[in-house]
Parts: sequence; structure tokens; C-alpha cells
Amino acid sequence: MVKHARGTGTQFSNLKASIVDSLNTSILVTGGAGYIGSHTCLELLRAGFRVTVFDNFSNSDSEALRRVERIAGKKLGVVNADVRDRAALVEALRASEATAVIHFAGLKAVGESVHQPLRYYDNNVVGALCLLESMEVCGVRSLVFSSSATVYGDPQFLPLTENHPLSATNPYGRTKLVIEDMLRDAYASNADWRYCILRYFNPVGAHDSGLIGEDPQGIPNNLLPFVAQVAVGRREFLNVWGNDYETPDGTGVRDYIHVVDLARGHLRALDMLQQGTSGQCTAVNLGTGRGYSVLDMVRAFEVACGQRVPYRIEPRRAGDIAACYSDPALARSLLNWSATRTLQTMCEDAWRWQKSNPAGYAT
Ligand code: NAD
Ligand code: WQD
Repeated sequence: MVKHARGTGTQFSNLKASIVDSLNTSILVTGGAGYIGSHTCLELLRAGFRVTVFDNFSNSDSEALRRVERIAGKKLGVVNADVRDRAALVEALRASEATAVIHFAGLKAVGESVHQPLRYYDNNVVGALCLLESMEVCGVRSLVFSSSATVYGDPQFLPLTENHPLSATNPYGRTKLVIEDMLRDAYASNADWRYCILRYFNPVGAHDSGLIGEDPQGIPNNLLPFVAQVAVGRREFLNVWGNDYETPDGTGVRDYIHVVDLARGHLRALDMLQQGTSGQCTAVNLGTGRGYSVLDMVRAFEVACGQRVPYRIEPRRAGDIAACYSDPALARSLLNWSATRTLQTMCEDAWRWQKSNPAGYAT
């Protein structure tokens, strides 16, 4: 059942003209309670959208949504259900009167996907299939999909442009590729669909309130949450996976992007889909275009938290690539979007979140 409460009129009083378009527009956000989803829901609420989160909370805490509401001063609709449940999706789409969907819901741990590939295909691919079918039933045509730079596989050239050949090196990446192909096939069969595939590079950081952020379960797989847990004393030291890559300091280079910049990219994508005069299926990179090494990240985090982050050099992690960074030109020209937050801001915001919530939402 969708529960929805609208913001009060006074909160809308100083909205800019461009934002007025979004008033009363309703968006269904699958996986909206997760790391990127919660930040995106906040930006949507602030821009005046009505937002319904559809999440099974398999990798998130409902506290994130309470905090989004607190920061925004507005209410979310919340549906606790699984995207493989078509009936629940159809009911949520109808009850919320959504005109577009942002699809974040999915499992994302690369290592886990190697050990549990069928679970990943079921959750991610079957989930996306059920969503597309439900959207078709309800006549909802616009979809923004969370893809990943992982679909470029081992880069043949850098920076990565959207026309770089696609491949996958693990089951997680393959689920993203299969879903992208599914969208391209569906669009080829019916040009009414409006799809924007966003390929994220490495999302990091947190909202500057320190109230919402990344809350990984167990040992973090990703670099910045691990560094943050070392800094807050939850872990003793960071393992740096290899310093013998062909990069300036030998450690892996990635395109880290602030999660709030990333979240705002979704609003630009929605705007493009809804303003467009025809259907489309467009893939767009969301990155900064700059690469930083693991040791760059450690140093920037040390400045942000004002203390040393001890680390040890260990052998390379299986499946890792040396360097990966985006060409963000298409996002600039097509979405009128580019990342504005610096590496230092990413680390400062990640640290504010970590130190005020040392155990994440369970704190
Ligand atoms: P997250 O795990 O924090 O959020 C995913 C959300 O989806 C969670 O709230 C989870 O409970 C929900 N969910 C999972 N399976 C579901 C299902 N079957 N039904 C309903 N809800 C379900 O992950 P995130 O970092 O916010 O990532 C969001 C999306 O972006 C994912 O699709 C992920 O693959 C993609 N992505 C993430 C990164 C990254 O580094 N964080 C990079 C590239 C792409
Ligand atoms: C970054 C760098 C590591 C942890 C993964 C997924 C990708 C995408 C984002 C979803 C690398 C090094 C890391 C640590 C380290 N997710 N590192 N010690 O591997 O670029 O991408 O997350 O789509 O699909 O593969 O990100 O944060 O794991 O690693 O030295 O404890 O940090 O070797 O060079 P990655 P990451």
C-alpha cells in the first residue's frame, strides 16, 4: 500500500520557475532507501517532485528515509516490496500516479556475485524485467536506469566514452549488461519507450548534513567506506590492493564522484526524458573525468579527518583494473550536467557522515 503525504504549500513558495514543472509530478524510485537512492530521493523532494520509494530493504534501513524526510521537510511514499513482485509494482505505479521510474534496486557486490551468480541474475535481471512489464501494463514509459562503468570491462582506451565496447568481467557486471541490452531491445521494438541508462563511475561521499550516507553491511568492499571505518577506529588499517599498476604511483586509479552530484544527474536525466519530443534509449556516463589513485584518496581523507590512515600494501585484488575514468562530455551536452564537488569535499562529507554515525544507521 502506498502511503503518501504531500509537503505544505509554504515550502514551495520560493521555487524557481524551472522547478515548478516538477510540482505534482510523481516518480517511483525502486531501491530508493539505498545509498544513491536516498540521496536522489532527497534531491527529488527538494525539487518539488512527489516521490514513492519501492524497496524491500534487503540492503538498507528505513531510518535513511526518515532522515531524508527530515532534511527535506517533506514526506515520501513508501512501499516495502520486492521488484520481482509484479502485482505490487503495478499497484504502486497506479496508486502513486507515477509518470517515470528511477530504478536503483539491485544487488551490487562484485565478489558476492561470483559466488551467488543465480541470485544476482534473479534479483537484478528478473527484477528489471518485472519492472519493464509492470510499466508497460501501467503505460509508464520513462525510466532512468542505474548502470555502471563496469560495463566497459577492462578499458581499451581512456577516458571512457559511451561508445567504448561493452563487456563484463563478473556476474554483477553481466547483469548490468543484460539489463542494458534488454532496454535497447525493448526500445528497438517500440520507440515510445524513454530510457536513460546512467553509467556511474565510483560514487563516494555523503549529504553535507551528515545525516545520510553509505552504510555498508559487514566489511566494506569499496575503498572510501573502508578508509572511513579505519579513520573512525572500526578497522585497524587499510589494505591497498597492489602498488605495481602502470599508474603514477602504482595504485589503482578511479573516477570518484560525489553522491550528491550523481543524484542531481538523475534529475537532469528525468528532465531530458520528460521534455523530449520522442522516445529514446540513451546511455550517459556520470563521472568527473578525473582519476585519483588509492594513495591520493588516503591522503585526501587524512586531510579531511585530521589524522593518519594506516595502510599496508597487499597483492592486487583479483579482477581489478589499473585505471578507469570517464569522458563526461555527453552528460554535459545532453543533460546540461557536470560534477562540481571536489575530491576534498567528497572526503569531508564522507567523514562527517562516518564520525556522526560510526555504526551507520544503527548508531
Ligand atoms: P544500495 O545497496 O545501497 O541500494 C540498493 C537498494 O535496492 C537497497 O535499498 C536495497 O534494499 C534495494 N533492493 C535490492 N534488491 C531489491 C529488490 N529485489 N526489490 C526491491 N528493492 C531491492 O546500492 P547503491 O550503491 O545505492 O546502488 C544503487 C544502484 O546503483 C544499484 O543498482 C547498483 O548496482 C548501481 N551502482 C552502484 C554503484 C556503487 O558503487 N554504489 C556503482 C555503479 C552502479
Ligand atoms: C577502488 C580502488 C581497489 C578497497 C567497484 C565495482 C564497480 C562499481 C564500483 C557498482 C581499486 C582499491 C579498494 C580496499 C583498495 N560498483 N581498494 N583497498 O573496484 O573501482 O569498483 O565499485 O557498479 O562495479 O567493481 O571500486 O572502491 O572497490 O576500489 O586498495 O580495501 O581502491 O583495488 O583500485 P572499483 P572499489
